[in-house]
Amino acid sequence: MKFTFVTLFANLVEGYFEDSILKRAIEKNLFFVDYLNPRDFSDNKHSKVDDTAVGGGAGMVMNPQPLYDSLRDLKKRDKDVHIVFLTPVAKPFRQNDAKRLAKKTHIAFVSGRYEGIDERVIEEFADEVFSIGDYILTGGELASLVLCDAISRNIEGVLGNSDSLSVESFETSLLEAPSFSKPKNYEENSVPSEYLKGNHSKIRSLKLALSECKTKFFRPEQLLKHRTRKSYEK
Ligand code: ADE
Repeated sequence: MKFTFVTLFANLVEGYFEDSILKRAIEKNLFFVDYLNPRDFSDNKHSKVDDTAVGGGAGMVMNPQPLYDSLRDLKKRDKDVHIVFLTPVAKPFRQNDAKRLAKKTHIAFVSGRYEGIDERVIEEFADEVFSIGDYILTGGELASLVLCDAISRNIEGVLGNSDSLSVESFETSLLEAPSFSKPKNYEENSVPSEYLKGNHSKIRSLKLALSECKTKFFRPEQLLKHRTRKSYEK
């Protein structure tokens, strides 16, 4: 798998791969990362990549030409590249998207800056368009890192223990039960006693109850979805 970050600011992205799990995955050749800067494709003598919005409106918009040329170049080099745009005006990114996209061979994340990207670029090149939430970031770089992280941990071999994928939040539409590490007693607080007794079926039912509590508190709409699904399965 290869990830290409199409961005004016590769330096905002690079550091994320310089430590921990994703660094090790790159060292094991489980995936590769590269960068494409639309500014390098600009026809403008000052390498300009943005301009004021046609029809008015605040701020600058990224011009079509540097992006058209960089994405054409990318597609010429790999016709199978899956091009994903990051913008708040899009469908929300979910865990099942992360799992689905982990099966691609090459994903390019296109990050907008300023007030956004000329819509014609999205129309021409987007295979998919995602938002990471209902808030506006200063650019798409963080959003593309969020997608890259969530996708890459679903690539075979990236996580040490593949069990950790199957019991996670969103795999069952319930949020995950709380986890504890050692010591068993810390200051005034101890780990729930059932966790300590080693009866695995009791631990499983307690975890399910705690998952339901967490979900009811933080994401009540998800609990409803879970219960509806369960009642269909009966
Ligand atoms: N760019 C700016 N805000 C964003 C968001 N919420 N999701 C994806 N890309 C963005």
